Amino acid sequence: MTWDFSECVILSEVPGSYQLCLNKILTSMETIGRAHIPETPDCLISLQSATDPVNRKVNAILTDPPYYDAIPYADLSDFFYVWLRRLTSDRFSSTFAEPLTPKLEELVQHHKAGEIGRTGKKFYEKGMAESFRSAYNSLDDEGRMVIVFAHKAPDAWETLIKAMLEASLVVTASWPIDTEMQAGLKVKHAALATSLWMVCRKRPAKAKAGHYGKVKRDMQQRITERLRYFWDVGIRGPDFVWAAIGPALESYSSYTEVKRMGGQAFTVTEFLTEVRRMVTDFALGQILHDASTEALDEWTRYYLMHRDYFGTENAPVGECILLAQGYGVPLDDLRDRHIGILKKVSSGNALKLLGHTERISDRIGYAHTSGRIPMIDMIHRSEKLWITGETAQLNAYFHEHGLQENPLFKAVVQALIETSPQGSDERSLLEALIKHEPGEFSGISSSRQSTNETEQQLTFEDMISK
Ligand SMILES: C[S@@+](CC[C@H](N)C(=O)[O-])C[C@H]1O[C@@H](n2cnc3c(N)ncnc32)[C@H](O)[C@@H]1O
Repeated sequence: MTWDFSECVILSEVPGSYQLCLNKILTSMETIGRAHIPETPDCLISLQSATDPVNRKVNAILTDPPYYDAIPYADLSDFFYVWLRRLTSDRFSSTFAEPLTPKLEELVQHHKAGEIGRTGKKFYEKGMAESFRSAYNSLDDEGRMVIVFAHKAPDAWETLIKAMLEASLVVTASWPIDTEMQAGLKVKHAALATSLWMVCRKRPAKAKAGHYGKVKRDMQQRITERLRYFWDVGIRGPDFVWAAIGPALESYSSYTEVKRMGGQAFTVTEFLTEVRRMVTDFALGQILHDASTEALDEWTRYYLMHRDYFGTENAPVGECILLAQGYGVPLDDLRDRHIGILKKVSSGNALKLLGHTERISDRIGYAHTSGRIPMIDMIHRSEKLWITGETAQLNAYFHEHGLQENPLFKAVVQALIETSPQGSDERSLLEALIKHEPGEFSGISSSRQSTNETEQQLTFEDMISK
C-alpha cells in the first residue's frame, strides 16, 4: 500500500474536513447520550479473529465481512492505532499490547500482491469459509445470521457464496439497502450505492441435492417477484443485478448441491451467470414491454440497459464498467475502435453511447468475429441506408436478415423511440423505420452500392414523408 497525502482542504467545510468530521462525531455522541438504555445486557467484547471458535450459543449474528479486495483495513487502522495507543494504552494495555494492528489473520485479498501468503485469493476464500463455519457452530438451531455484502465484481460474489454454501447457510430473505453516501461514490472507481443484506438460517441436516430444472424455475419465480418490487422503488443499473442474488440464493442455497440432468454440478459460476441473464431478461422485458428477449445478443442488451440508465448523456467510465461487469459483457469489446458502441469522451472520465451517425465504420451491420450481427448494428445500418436514401439496399438488408418479421427488431426500435427526445431527427427516423415495408424481394444484395440515381436523390425528409 502506498500512503498518500490528504486530498481535501481540512479547514474548509467539504466532506472529510475537520469541522464536518468533528460535527459527525459529536452528533453520534449526543445521540448515544440521549438513548436512555435502562439496563444493558451482559456484553462481551472479544478481540479475536472471526475464524476462531466462539464458545457460546447465540440466536443472532450480524456481520459486515471484509469485501474481498476492497479495503486493506488493518493497514489503514495503523494510522489511528498508533495515536490511540499512546492515549489509552494505560487503560487498555492488553488491547494495545502490540505496536501495530494484527495483520496475519486479516481476511483481505490484496490483488496486487498476487496469490502469495496471507494476501492471496485462496487465503481470503478459506478464511471466509472458516469464519462462516465458526458462526454456524455458535448459532442455535432457530437462529438467524445476517450477512451484509456489496461488490461490483462477480468473482467477489462467487467467493462469498461458496463460503456461505460450505458453511451450510441458507438465505431466507434479503434486501438491498442504500448504505453509501453519494459524495463517497467516486467517478473513476465507481462503487455501488446499495449493499445487500442477506438473512440466513442453518440448512436443515436432512437437506438433499437439488435438481437444476426445479432450482431454475424457483429462481426465476422468486427473482421476478422481487425484481418487480426493486424496479418499482427505482433500483437500477449495476445495483439491480446484485440485488437479485439474494432472492436467487433462496432456492440455490437450500440444497446441499445442485445437479443437472446428467449429474454434473450446477456451479456457483454458472449460478451467477444465470442470475445475470434473468436480471437482464427482466429489465429488458420492462424496457421492451415484455417482448421475449431470449434471442437478444449481449451488445444490444448492454446498449438498451445503458440507454435506459444513463440516457444519451456522457456516462462515468466507472459506472459503465459496473454495468458491463454486472451484465457480463467485456467493456473493451464495447469500446472497440472500429465497431464499438461506446467511445471515450475527451475528458477521459466518461463514455458516450454512439448513435448510427457516430458509428462510421463500413463494418457496422455485418457479422462480428463471433459470427453474429448484434441487433443494434442491424438497426444502425438500416438507419444509415435510410438516411442516405439507398432504398434498394435497405430493402435487401431487411430481406436478408428477416427484419420485418422479427419481433425483436420492432421491440428494440420501439424502445429506442421511447428513449429519443420528442421531435428529434433520430425519433422521426426510427418511427419511419419501424413502419418500413421492404416489399417483394428483388434479388439485390444489401452490400451492393446503390447506382439508382432517383434513390440517391431522395432526402431524409422525403423518405420520412413517404
Ligand atoms: C466491511 S468492514 C466492516 C466495517 C464496519 N461495519 C464499520 O462500519 O466500521 C470489514 C471488517 O472486517 C474486519 N476483519 C478482517 N479480517 C477479519 C478477521 N479475520 N476477523 C475479524 N474481523 C476481520 C476488517 O478489519 C474490517 O473492519
